[in-house]
Amino acid sequence: MKVASVAATIFGLVASVLATPPRLGGVNTAGYDFTVSTDGYDTLPYAQPPLYQYPYFSLEGANLYRIPFAWQLATPTLGGPLNMTWLAEYDQNVQAALATYAFVIVDVHNYARWNGEIINQGGPTIEQYASLWSQLAAYYKDEDRIIIGLMNEPHGTPYLPDNTLWPPAVQGAINAIRAAGATTQYILMPGSNYTSAAAMPTVMGPLLLNITDPATPGSTEFLLFDVHQYLDYDNSGTHTTCVTNNTEILSTLVTWLKANGGRQAILSETGGGRNDSTCYTNLGEELAFVKDNYPYMVGFSTWAAGAFDTTYILSMTPTNGNTDAPLWEYAVRPNLPAPTYT
Ligand SMILES: *[C@@H]1O[C@H](CO)[C@@H](O)[C@H](O)[C@H]1NC(C)=O
Ligand SMILES: *[C@@H]1O[C@H](CO)[C@@H](O)[C@H](O)[C@H]1NC(C)=O
Ligand SMILES: *[C@@H]1O[C@H](CO)[C@@H](O)[C@H](O)[C@H]1NC(C)=O
Ligand SMILES: *[C@@H]1O[C@H](CO)[C@@H](O)[C@H](O)[C@H]1NC(C)=O
Ligand SMILES: *[C@@H]1O[C@H](CO)[C@@H](O)[C@H](O)[C@H]1NC(C)=O
Repeated sequence: MKVASVAATIFGLVASVLATPPRLGGVNTAGYDFTVSTDGYDTLPYAQPPLYQYPYFSLEGANLYRIPFAWQLATPTLGGPLNMTWLAEYDQNVQAALATYAFVIVDVHNYARWNGEIINQGGPTIEQYASLWSQLAAYYKDEDRIIIGLMNEPHGTPYLPDNTLWPPAVQGAINAIRAAGATTQYILMPGSNYTSAAAMPTVMGPLLLNITDPATPGSTEFLLFDVHQYLDYDNSGTHTTCVTNNTEILSTLVTWLKANGGRQAILSETGGGRNDSTCYTNLGEELAFVKDNYPYMVGFSTWAAGAFDTTYILSMTPTNGNTDAPLWEYAVRPNLPAPTYT
């Protein structure tokens, strides 16, 4: 190997190490997404996630918060301007989280839909979808610890097998985000099947590998794969009992990430019954696996705290606002990054 190419290789390694985000771990703070159902309709009232939770969890070592919201709250008219009144409220959460030195996933929680219609498949056009992100990206362009969560849980027929219609929407949003001046933020690319980690390597991942980043031509280091996986028998996150630690599914994903040039993913939703011993073990093992597989698995955000009260079956919300949920204490807390916020 020539000296120049050795130098280039070393520089490339250093550059990619430097660009790798730190190991991340934390929780979804839900509430602004309470308005939206899996068909992309916006019906129920929303609730602002309480701000105390960011310092609460960060003092324990969390450094990642995913803050979901309904598309219709951000832009009441499809393709229209941001509702700045709503955004000011949402931004209170973002800033409270950033103030603890954490990273924040800004997540549009619309299942690839607006009022029942799918993006680029009879529903919103790619331009209308990209317009949302263009505006939000301009708003957050100076904040490097924002991670763009392009879309929560795309799913369903006729979404598949016409899945070649989804990657152009992802590419359109990414191009708009970079054109708006947000050139240094990580972007999370969701696949199919409700962002299933199991489906990523075979259903949508192969197509998303070809998505490009106009901010870093020739490199995809700022484009991370977004995956979800629950621990109940049907991977729905609707049962208290956990039956798997997902190690097999996540191993397959990591093998796929490695085989494709060392790509990276974040497990942005996972969870179990808040006080169920089957979940203490399985969730703990899953999160330990994620931790051990950094930097391919950059980290996790569990589902969910925020405006959920402690009666929600997967709630990670602290009891009385001051005592860890048992599942958080036994399974999540031991797998959080070391505290950087004191
Ligand atoms: C904008 O957001 C505020 C705060 O959520 C809300 O009261 C208002 O109705 C919204 N405007 C529109 C046009 O939806
Ligand atoms: C993904 O979802 C489709 C239906 O939308 C289903 O046919 C397929 O089996 C699912 N694939 C995986 C890997 O879950
Ligand atoms: C991805 O790009 C490569 C090289 O340009 C091409 O050979 C391949 O067919 C593309 N894959 C998909 C799924 O589009
Ligand atoms: C957890 O569950 C056990 C029994 O299932 C119960 O005794 C205990 O009070 C619960 N703890 C909390 C904090 O909910
Ligand atoms: C997950 O469960 C399997 C089967 O019980 C076990 O072999 C494996 O060691 C567990 N993974 C971790 C990370 O503990």
